[in-house]
Amino acid sequence: MLHPVVLSGGSGTRLWPLSRQNQPKQFLALIGERSLYQETVLRASRLPGAAAPVTVCADDHRFMVGEQLAAVGLSSGGILLEPAARNTAPAIALAALHLLARDPEALMLVLPADHLIEDEAAFRDAVAGAMTLASENFLVTFGIRPDYAETGYGYIRRGTPLGDAGFEVERFVEKPDRETAEAYLEDGGYWWNSGMFLFRAARYLEELERHAPAIARAAREAHANARSDLDFTRIDRDAFAASPSDSIDYAVMEKTDRAAVVPVSCGWSDIGSWSALWSVAERDGDDNRHDGDVISVDSRGNLVRAAERRMIATLGVEDLVIVDTPDATLVARKDRVQDVKTLVDRMKADG
Ligand code: GDD
Ligand code: MG
Repeated sequence: MLHPVVLSGGSGTRLWPLSRQNQPKQFLALIGERSLYQETVLRASRLPGAAAPVTVCADDHRFMVGEQLAAVGLSSGGILLEPAARNTAPAIALAALHLLARDPEALMLVLPADHLIEDEAAFRDAVAGAMTLASENFLVTFGIRPDYAETGYGYIRRGTPLGDAGFEVERFVEKPDRETAEAYLEDGGYWWNSGMFLFRAARYLEELERHAPAIARAAREAHANARSDLDFTRIDRDAFAASPSDSIDYAVMEKTDRAAVVPVSCGWSDIGSWSALWSVAERDGDDNRHDGDVISVDSRGNLVRAAERRMIATLGVEDLVIVDTPDATLVARKDRVQDVKTLVDRMKADG
């Protein structure tokens, strides 16, 4: 059976000051009325034959997850609570162990909680193709045709075709430097890794055991000592703390020789930064995206988001991001928004 697993443990730092530790971006209604997390679980629930979604998130966010699921009328296939963030490789291992206890043949579809998908039918077709390859024991990723040299993504070089559904992965390179990313774009034989994966739960654990045994061991122990509490599974703190922190991309996908890629063209975007949000959002005739009480004259290409009960006015400015909240305001050039993370790190360091 197909089990969607939603990874919802990220902190979304680059969307500061809206995204905060106690309310990270995946739980915010950034575009439209629902949060990205809600859109993700709803999309997963519409896949034919899919089981109720499993969510892996931080312990602090348990009520938010519970409420957001209930608000869209979905039941949960389990909410696994991490006592600390150890990145995606251990998080996915916890979900695999949770599923294997219920369904030894479980296929898991791993979905980040912060993606936008415009063409759901194309996404569904790709999932169907990926299920075939996953049943043949491949670790399947979904490849997106790159349109610029993004350095924050993984790159996949496609190899031999595997029937109609996809290709073997010849090489997987996580977050290359700019020069390398440009060479890959030029080459044309590379796709972006979408960050969504499909594999047999048992198969993932085998590969993790092989390439990152310390993570596999810690996840097993942390899961074995977990405590159930209604829909929640509280992962054991000490055992999980012993896990190295690493992503599935570095820990498994770069290393395994059983990876396959299914190309998908589904209007995918990762809402990782304010400029990414601007580029997918509806904009006015001057290419501005305004939320809340905003007026502008001779201003172009801006994303402006007013806080409740406060107006923002812009005059003669271009390509800016202005985000106001009750206790903090960001003003940045749109081409610098990747560095909002640096800003947040600095604030943390300064206490
Ligand atoms: N539960 C849990 N625990 N979830 C986590 C954790 C964790 O410790 N860390 C991250 N996540 C969640 C995030 O919330 C997000 O939904 C997803 O896992 C991916 O994590 P990111 O931190 O956003 O990864 P990335 O964007 O740097 O890179 C990944 O995605 C790219 C595409 O968006 C990689 O898979 C890249 O290869 C890929 O191109
Ligand atoms: Mg991301």
